Amino acid sequence: MSFRVLVNGKSYGEEPAPGQCLRTYLREVGWTGVKKGCDAGDCGACTVHVDGRPVHSCLYPAQRAAGREVTTIEGLEGADGLHPVQQGFADAQGFQCGFCTAGMIMTVAGMSPEQKQDLPRSLKGSLCRCTGYRSICDAVAGVSHVEAGGVGGVGRNSPAPATREIVTGAARFTLDETPPALLHCVLARSPHAHAEIDSVDCSAALAVPGVVAVLTHEDSPQTLFSTGRHDSLRDDPWDTLVLDRTVRFKGQRVAAVVAETVAAAEEGVRRLEILYTLKEAVFDPELAMRPGAPVLHPDRTPEQGVARAADNVVAEVHGRIGDAEAGFAAADVVYENTFRTQRVQHAHLETHACVAWVDEKDRLNVRTSSQTPFLTRAALAHVLGRPEAQVRVLTGRVGGGFGGKQEMLVEDVAALATLRTGRPVQIELTRSEQFTAATTRHPMRIRVKIGARADGTFTAIELEVVSNTGAYGNHAPGVLFHGCNESISVYRCPAKKVDGYAVYTNTVPAGAFRGYGLSQLIFAVESAVDEVARELGIDPFRLRELNIVRPGDRMVSTSEDDHDVEYGSHGADECLAVVRRALEEDTTPAPEGWLVGSGTALAMIDTIPPRGHHSEVTVRALADGGYELNVGTAEFGNGTSTVHRQLAAEVLGCPVEAIRLRQSDTDVVRYDTGAFGSTGIVVAGAATVRAALDLRQKMTQPASRPTNVLNSALTGTGTAGGSPRSIAFNVHGFRIAVNPETGEIAFLRSIQAADAGTVLNPMQCRGQIEGGTAQALGAALFEHVDVDAGGTVTTSTFRGYHLPTVADVPTTEVVFAQTYDRLGPLGAKSMSESPFNPVAPALANALRSATGVRFGDLPLSRDRIWARLEAERQNLTNHPDRS
Ligand code: FES
Repeated sequence: MSFRVLVNGKSYGEEPAPGQCLRTYLREVGWTGVKKGCDAGDCGACTVHVDGRPVHSCLYPAQRAAGREVTTIEGLEGADGLHPVQQGFADAQGFQCGFCTAGMIMTVAGMSPEQKQDLPRSLKGSLCRCTGYRSICDAVAGVSHVEAGGVGGVGRNSPAPATREIVTGAARFTLDETPPALLHCVLARSPHAHAEIDSVDCSAALAVPGVVAVLTHEDSPQTLFSTGRHDSLRDDPWDTLVLDRTVRFKGQRVAAVVAETVAAAEEGVRRLEILYTLKEAVFDPELAMRPGAPVLHPDRTPEQGVARAADNVVAEVHGRIGDAEAGFAAADVVYENTFRTQRVQHAHLETHACVAWVDEKDRLNVRTSSQTPFLTRAALAHVLGRPEAQVRVLTGRVGGGFGGKQEMLVEDVAALATLRTGRPVQIELTRSEQFTAATTRHPMRIRVKIGARADGTFTAIELEVVSNTGAYGNHAPGVLFHGCNESISVYRCPAKKVDGYAVYTNTVPAGAFRGYGLSQLIFAVESAVDEVARELGIDPFRLRELNIVRPGDRMVSTSEDDHDVEYGSHGADECLAVVRRALEEDTTPAPEGWLVGSGTALAMIDTIPPRGHHSEVTVRALADGGYELNVGTAEFGNGTSTVHRQLAAEVLGCPVEAIRLRQSDTDVVRYDTGAFGSTGIVVAGAATVRAALDLRQKMTQPASRPTNVLNSALTGTGTAGGSPRSIAFNVHGFRIAVNPETGEIAFLRSIQAADAGTVLNPMQCRGQIEGGTAQALGAALFEHVDVDAGGTVTTSTFRGYHLPTVADVPTTEVVFAQTYDRLGPLGAKSMSESPFNPVAPALANALRSATGVRFGDLPLSRDRIWARLEAERQNLTNHPDRS
């Protein structure tokens, strides 16, 4: 009997390939609302209904759908076009990037009323990396947050402009639009941590039906570059080739097989015969710096951005402010400890993916999942030796980033493959590749020493940092410098001493990650500050208030050089006061026999990264009375497309709905450095305000008034250069209970106070803080990319990694300080990455308060907590006099 399936009321007879899952079948016949998050049944992004029942279509054999009715997000229907669940997600804005949303909606739409009352259980198979789940729970409960209509935009809960597309599955993510005659590229990856390729025999691979080409290191341009993207190509070391003869970590790409289908390309990869000469490898950064250690990049030079190649040191920082030794000698209390932070993964639900093609004008086009389309264009031009004008980079909707897409991890290979074959080529990383071959947060070992007088004033702060950058140095210098900066420049102290090293090892590369080094350093510094407060017997909030920098103080960390950070506003006191009050007043009962404690941590962040961030925005008056806003930055769930429209509407005095946005296409809009460092508001947003002001001024000139037609020729332009920069604060507080018999933590209160300046969209800003807190809690509690002693990443699935589910994330109360930043657009500050930073130390401090034990290593997993508490108990049993 021939195969036939009914999808959204339409009959399909295409026979599935042997073993094909329903997810890929549905996408092949055009239902792109079905997403790939994991292809392992862990995330739920691919959820569809089969005969009315929700299934993970990545696990469901397409053949089994024969004779059945399948409904995807595009097939959900309601009275006025939207299904009630879709309407709920629209009203509550139950999404950020929106990549999980179709699957979430399909899962919820299949729930009984009883299941909707128990989301921790009934949503356990549905992951969202962006939202922290509160807005999703609100969507299910029918809570509405959006405010539409009205004139102007600032302070309003405007919905995302793509809301309807997101909730209906019509939003076009990276691979939802592809050119015809598409080829697929699969990457062969090294099984060795350190080796030299002797030969690659491609003959068997090329014999696989459907395989079109194989690219090896012999096909690669020999132009060095960095996968890390910054405004200056020189900010990251040039240590990478598209395909290198030397492999430096297990998982490095060694060849690319291009074929008519993914299956053929995968078979081609299996048939490649690659011979290697193995080299000694080093996996520990401390060992890598020792004399005699294997050297990963012996030929790189300081001019290429590698500080001391012979010692595997990519970058180092040595800062001296005042006399640290004298400061410690003058202290009444000196606390010193070593802290360790682990490797964690961004886990954006849309994996790295792109499609490249050459158009009729011989221009290279790349549609990619990137936070930095303009910087990716520059890198492709550099690597491929093409003028930038011959390269176009654009994004569709980007399914999350968190810094992970401030890299060029697939675009270069896809471009090379399309130039070789003359046909469009697509690459889509698997979830396993995301863990084993994409980038992670930099693991760090941090020694902190703080001296303070009896009255609480700090006399000296000392940091020693070793950052493991893995096999390549993308973002290694920036993460090290940034991490060592605001973590201590937040404190007024006459003496500071910093020594930091970013070190190559034969492990999966680290890269940009939300917080950009601050989450690691702030964990260490804020844990140490808590201990100083204990030793002095001073309230930890009071100790921070005593020492925090204030307008008039110089903000210094590693040098006294003039820099461009100013006090645009200062809301730290308000944040500290709000959190202190909440923790003191909390009376939530704890389970009987559990240990109760509370803790806090303070984080400061410069609102813009240093060394250049640029944006040029235009606004054009349209004949119908609306406006076309053109912004270069990308939307990946950070909400800039919403806020940019609000800023423009506020200045132009029109409804938000009158602003039509075009963005993130290097052919269509003007230059923007990209969406990282929370610059979407403070740089691109500032340029938006200036463009709107320019247009408003032109529109008020008499010559431009007579008709709307004349006005339609008017365009306002605004630029922003990312300087001077301001500061923002986040304070997190936890009150927790700990089960001493199991190590389990129960959250009694979670609160974050944020100094965001003018809150342009309270609903959205709150969502960024909730999402950042949830992601940080995952990193604080259980997330850990495990690398074994041989350099193999052993955590290669969501299931093994433990991304927070709705059951893992407590409700976090979000409070905004009442500040107006004189440097930010209409008073606003950045608030996307910074909410992550105080969460782990606040939790560690609460744990210390509850148990009396200082935990210096992340994650604070239940088994580790239990083991430490048990060890302490044994210690007391063996040495009863210590009690
Ligand atoms: Fe859920 Fe981005 S909105 S993963």
